Amino acid sequence: MSIETTVPRAIETVYQSGFGNEFATEAVAGALPQGQNAPQKAPFGLYTEQISGTPFTAPRALNRRSWLYRIRPSVAHRPFEPIGDGLIRSTPFDEVPTPPNQLRWQPLPLPTKSTNFIDGLVTMAGNGDASIHTGAAIHTYAANVEMSNCFFFDADGEFLIVPQLGRLSMRTEMGVLEIRPGEIGVIQRGIKFRVELPDKQARGYICENYGALFRLPDLGPIGANGLANPRDFQTPHAAYEDRAGDFRLIAKFQGHLWAAKIDHSPLDVVAWHGNYAPYKYDLERFNCINTVSFDHPDPSIYTVLTAPSEISGTANIDFGIFPPRWLVAEHTFRPPWFHRNFMSEFMGLIRGEYDAKAEGFVPGGASLHNCMAGHGPDAVTYEKAITADLKPAYLADTLAFMFETRFVCRPTKLALESSQLDEQYFECWQDLHKRFAP
Ligand SMILES: [Fe+2]
Repeated sequence: MSIETTVPRAIETVYQSGFGNEFATEAVAGALPQGQNAPQKAPFGLYTEQISGTPFTAPRALNRRSWLYRIRPSVAHRPFEPIGDGLIRSTPFDEVPTPPNQLRWQPLPLPTKSTNFIDGLVTMAGNGDASIHTGAAIHTYAANVEMSNCFFFDADGEFLIVPQLGRLSMRTEMGVLEIRPGEIGVIQRGIKFRVELPDKQARGYICENYGALFRLPDLGPIGANGLANPRDFQTPHAAYEDRAGDFRLIAKFQGHLWAAKIDHSPLDVVAWHGNYAPYKYDLERFNCINTVSFDHPDPSIYTVLTAPSEISGTANIDFGIFPPRWLVAEHTFRPPWFHRNFMSEFMGLIRGEYDAKAEGFVPGGASLHNCMAGHGPDAVTYEKAITADLKPAYLADTLAFMFETRFVCRPTKLALESSQLDEQYFECWQDLHKRFAP
């Protein structure tokens, strides 16, 4: 069932970027106060409410807040009560010991019974501590029914959503974001939403970032352009629901789900302005930069968004992609080389094949190579790479991504005990036999 929202009308969009620029948008002409944030009476009987995504005193370049003009303020709901957490898990992620092994999973099955976006969240791994705003959780989602009478917000972190199958129509307080496989969406801490499914079913990945908000990485010697460009990020125009009913507002708070009765849709923001708002990005717009001589740069060259930590260059979470691209390196081993990493690497595949693996890593699946776990191309890929004719080659059918984090990524009990865990993953490296012949 699709629920009509008002036709959005933008009065002004300064830049199509969610990074520090101010947006101003109203779904009804005249709903947005002019010249001040909190007039004595907001237009049309609307309530005024600020949402702060950073401390009031965060430096200007990092400060995020928006002013919302809404039919009812967010405080208007019954008390929250705990409900079951389903398959969502949270910090401290200590259900089971974390093995040092390389791990890989087949896609979790699509649900057979009615499952909405929140019911269908399954936590695979995580780290840090949600209560002190550090670390992240990695979830998958799979859904086959829409959220029509329930709404959700996450006080623990922001959702970076990576669809792998089916579109998601994210009905948020700030407007509607439709994201399809090949795009990503980010819904920040506290922003309420519900999810419709234009393709009837959907599956994908979520990084729940407990830390500092995702932002564009600095570019250093790359210069002023390249990788993900700010102009390609899109933020919705205002759109609101004015409906009454017996609804549930679900909150994720300190790792647990809580629900409150609410007699109206909380997606009732008629106008808003500010710089704290959901955004989406088409990964095809990523300006991929790589070698035109020999060797490859480190995979950090593929960073789309970064959530920094207090330590310079040591991200709480980086989001990187491995998109279609030309391989032109001369006298070079072209697939990703063997390596061990301080950072922990959770990977997923949106479509096609990943160039380090001949088989076994499939769209919807995942791998996890934790701190100092040796990994790299499998034996088949290695053999091909050292004998390949190094003409320019285009990798067309591929779109993999990585959540790379400074903290060890601790799998949940469910992830380690699931039948999707590939117990034979280690075998793909066992044929890397001795070649040493001095
Ligand atoms: Fe790696």
